[in-house]
Amino acid sequence: MPAGLLRPALLAAARSPRLERGVTRMRATRSLVDRFVAGSTEPQAIAATTALRSSGRFVTIDYLGEDTTDLGRARDTVAHYRALLTALAELPDATEPGTVRPLEVSLKLSALGQSLPRDGHRIALDNAREICAAAHDAGVAVTVDAEDHTTTDSTLSIVRDLRVDFPGTGTVLQAYLRRTEADCRDFAGPGSRIRLCKGAYREPESVAYQSAAEVDAAYLRCLRILMDGAGYPMVATHDPAMIAAAQRYADEVDRKADEFEFQMLYGIRDAEQRRLAEDSHRVRVYLPYGDQWYGYFMRRLAERPANLVFFLRALAPA
Ligand code: FDA
Repeated sequence: MPAGLLRPALLAAARSPRLERGVTRMRATRSLVDRFVAGSTEPQAIAATTALRSSGRFVTIDYLGEDTTDLGRARDTVAHYRALLTALAELPDATEPGTVRPLEVSLKLSALGQSLPRDGHRIALDNAREICAAAHDAGVAVTVDAEDHTTTDSTLSIVRDLRVDFPGTGTVLQAYLRRTEADCRDFAGPGSRIRLCKGAYREPESVAYQSAAEVDAAYLRCLRILMDGAGYPMVATHDPAMIAAAQRYADEVDRKADEFEFQMLYGIRDAEQRRLAEDSHRVRVYLPYGDQWYGYFMRRLAERPANLVFFLRALAPA
């Protein structure tokens, strides 16, 4: 299959329950999953966090799960975040002074009930609010992830509501969406924390740029707005061109190294993460854990065809 067709095929597969059952049962998948996912349990996530902190990196932890269609499962996700936050509160970082917290959790609202057919928006808001309150008590920040474009209005409205009581709540904006430059302007006010990523879902042309060149150009325009704005930009990318541009834009507007941060995913470009941290930049690692890794894992395969080759090799009989 040509590389250009691989990405949409993998992203479609990321949402197939039938394929999920097949892929998650394969024992050979595990070694590649372990590259991107820091274990199944809270103690494993805490151990990986402690290791990253010892190299000076900040961390944001995601309890994996998405597209929940069951209220009980959404409540189970809240329980996992509460257990995680109780454990994080014991780490020395939780009591460090400063407005930018070294420890953060990332939430997917669809895991908290947003896609439930009845009252999903309100249920996700209530669940997210409960996690924000527990995070506040634990000295841990919260950022809300961005999912497919059908959820963007609901997600940004929930973030606005959360920010009334928890003003430090961060949000993710996806540069590939045509609307995002306007969202960057709306959200780049004082005290805001915006994580800018390229975007990882399969989206129609009507709402999203399709070519890599268009997405990169949009990312640079959004980055410029955030760097010029009064908020705290969180530059979430592994792309050397975007990283260099962020450094350049920050210098141009005299933003110091502690007035923005770089963010990368667990297991991706680890040497570059360390290099930036050693170079006095703030670097935060997005660290996912839990058993519901399928959708997250398939999006990582879709981003880089070489990952798929590793995966297929692992499946081949020895
Ligand atoms: P690009 O895809 O152009 O990759 C640049 C280079 O990075 C590649 O050449 C390769 O070297 C390396 N690389 C990238 N992906 C890789 C992979 N999977 N495996 C190995 N190497 C890889 N998306 C979203 O829709 N909603 C969200 O909430 C988030 N949240 C988020 C948080 C953080 C901290 C990050 C870093 C990313 C996200 N994303 C996301 C994912 C994001 O939208 C995007 O899909 C990936 O970051 C890949 O895009 P890059 O900017 O890295 O560039």
